[in-house]
Amino acid sequence: MNSHCVGESDGLTFCLARPEDYDDVMAISQDIYGGNDYLPHRYHSWMTEPGRVVIIARRDGKLVALESGLVVDGGETVIVEGLRVCPNERGRGLAGVIQKFVDGYIKKVYPNVKTKRLTRGDDPGPEKLRKFTLLARRAILSLLGNSEDFNSFVSGLKEKLDPSDGSNSSRPLVPIKDFDALKALLLDSDLSSRLQLPGGAIIQDWEPLKLMESNLHILAKRNLTWFVDGSCAKPLFMSLHTPPYPIPFNGGSLRFNIDLYGTDTSLAKKALIAHLDSAKSEIQGIVVVHIYMHKAIWEDLKQFCVGHDTVKQFYWDYWEQLLLEREL
Ligand SMILES: CC(C)(COP(=O)(O)OP(=O)(O)OC[C@H]1O[C@@H](n2cnc3c(N)ncnc32)[C@H](O)[C@@H]1OP(=O)(O)O)[C@@H](O)C(=O)NCCC(=O)NCCS
Repeated sequence: MNSHCVGESDGLTFCLARPEDYDDVMAISQDIYGGNDYLPHRYHSWMTEPGRVVIIARRDGKLVALESGLVVDGGETVIVEGLRVCPNERGRGLAGVIQKFVDGYIKKVYPNVKTKRLTRGDDPGPEKLRKFTLLARRAILSLLGNSEDFNSFVSGLKEKLDPSDGSNSSRPLVPIKDFDALKALLLDSDLSSRLQLPGGAIIQDWEPLKLMESNLHILAKRNLTWFVDGSCAKPLFMSLHTPPYPIPFNGGSLRFNIDLYGTDTSLAKKALIAHLDSAKSEIQGIVVVHIYMHKAIWEDLKQFCVGHDTVKQFYWDYWEQLLLEREL
């Protein structure tokens, strides 16, 4: 067994992924998430990320599966991500085998980890969910358009903003760039109930992080853009976006993720405009925008976005992000 290999079972060799495995990983990743796969973009940064383990499984030398874990919550939780199995090996329990191996490996290397947390975009039904605590379901609105059409789309949204819409419409939404100011807001003990955070966490582009200082340092490295309800020291709304990144969709597109927290519709509309506006100079070509939010505001936000000629709703009409947790 090579030195980077960490175990064998079920006819598989498990190894820590290396930069040179990239092409083999991409070879099993065709068409994942309908072309919305983040791994082609993230793979190399995963290789050097502190607290990150990326395991690949090979059968007779051929790469057949991958799963990654990121240790968070001060070492007590692992977030699992990136699970994939080579197409011709699917449906035979291989995902279960690699998950079991990664769980055991994480426990060995990080003995303080007690909890496993994950998000998924499909609902496997009550039988499979029984193994987990379902912490939250978030609603997702997905839009598709060409970068040059987003200018008129955003102008249209601005025109639609009704000043008399909702009791909080006069609340300003302000950018927040200073890490210490952000930290103070995020570590406020009643933020979670005020914003109805999913499972008490901020889910940044599918990665659920509980609000504790060590996790904020992870968020700080992600080059995020934040906006907050600036009307008082106890904001009713916060939002963030991840810098747009390339995905395989339609031969090469950009994926733009916006996470909204809070249930005030008028602030959600302002936040959507603010994020699209501030990312204008970073987008080109085809752009897939995924907006994640509390279920209560999805319908209003959807109605707000309909009516443009070319920037259109995309993917499923309504879909959800599930936040799951179980003991490791
Ligand atoms: C999803 C995928 C990894 C399943 O692989 P598979 O080997 O065919 O999986 P199986 O149907 O044999 O199921 C094996 C186990 O994986 C679990 N599993 C399946 N899909 C899963 C998912 N999206 N997230 C977490 N676990 C999943 C199953 O619940 C099952 O667990 P159990 O053995 O504890 O009951 C595979 O179809 C794939 O690579 N799809 C494309 C990538 C993708 O959608 N990944 C999902 C990441 S959220």
